[in-house]
Amino acid sequence: MERVLVTGGAGFIGSHLVDRLIRDNEVVVLDDLSAGSEENLQQHMDNERFRFIKGSITREKDVNMALDGVTIVFHFAAQPDVRLSVERPKWDFEINVGGSLELLEAMRKNDVKRMVFASSGGTVYGETDVFPTPEVTAFRPISNYGAAKGAFEMYLNSYAELYGIDSVSMRLANVIGPRSAHGVMHDFYMKLKRNPKHLEVLGDGTQEKAYMYISDTVEAALVLAENIGRGHLPVNVSSGERLTVTRIAELVCKELGVPNAHLAYTGGKRGWTGDVVRTDIDITKLASFGWQPRVPLEEGVRLYLRWLIKKFGPVK
Ligand SMILES: NC(=O)c1ccc[n+]([C@@H]2O[C@H](COP(=O)([O-])OP(=O)(O)OC[C@H]3O[C@@H](n4cnc5c(N)ncnc54)[C@H](O)[C@@H]3O)[C@@H](O)[C@H]2O)c1
Repeated sequence: MERVLVTGGAGFIGSHLVDRLIRDNEVVVLDDLSAGSEENLQQHMDNERFRFIKGSITREKDVNMALDGVTIVFHFAAQPDVRLSVERPKWDFEINVGGSLELLEAMRKNDVKRMVFASSGGTVYGETDVFPTPEVTAFRPISNYGAAKGAFEMYLNSYAELYGIDSVSMRLANVIGPRSAHGVMHDFYMKLKRNPKHLEVLGDGTQEKAYMYISDTVEAALVLAENIGRGHLPVNVSSGERLTVTRIAELVCKELGVPNAHLAYTGGKRGWTGDVVRTDIDITKLASFGWQPRVPLEEGVRLYLRWLIKKFGPVK
């Protein structure tokens, strides 16, 4: 049994990771609850192997407290909104690079030697023209969020060389599943709840991205944590399947019982400034560790939508 720290553990992916890690470990969560919720961790609050610290990765004191006795860090805390990173670049930097570096520096001082980092497979490669995109592809971010994820990966590389802190960066596809409070499916559901006859679709609907279901993401994190070697290793993490925005709209409308809702496209190839229109990441490296996806993507979409209906009600 190890003591592990999950930053952002009250958020979507982090809380699922906690559910899995606590079976075999002591788990500490550091989360400022800016986006996450204690409700996601309610099931562990009475467990003596669990500790919740409400605090920020940007504060040295909070980070030092959270690292006490810890041997591995799953770093999932972040400002996760691409659009906000475009509107407020310095604020995004202070959390996603500054806060991440605060954590890494505290790991150095507290002699914590391993990290699994939630990077991003779509936004670091950005406007690449290499498909499926392998990990050796140059970074070409088109959002500050993507630039920040890439920048912190560089620090992981230097900290591995300089101080022997070894790490894996999970270059994640879009992850879907219960507790997710953002992303296109959540957006579509909320819009249809307001008006079940009409669905505004950002862009022209042809944007095509890699997605995966949450349980497969969690298993990938565990497999990669077990395989941290010397240095910093970036690994693409996806189901290998992709969906266009139009296909997602169709699936959502069907599952929500409004198959005839009118799809109103706002037009243009991007949904918003900083939106990467195509992600297709190569998962050969991840598969080489023995991981394989278990939830077919469209089944994952349905599971997530059923959870949204259970939590927030039907759309009509
Ligand atoms: N969900 C995806 O599709 C996806 C894709 C690629 C990468 N990622 C990355 O995975 C990680 C988790 O994403 P998520 O979808 O679960 O997002 P989320 O917003 O649900 O979780 C992030 C958590 O971090 C916390 N947090 C934010 N700022 C903090 C700070 N300064 N100190 C401490 N905690 C802070 C939030 O309160 C939240 O609980 C993030 O790093 C995100 O960038 C997610």
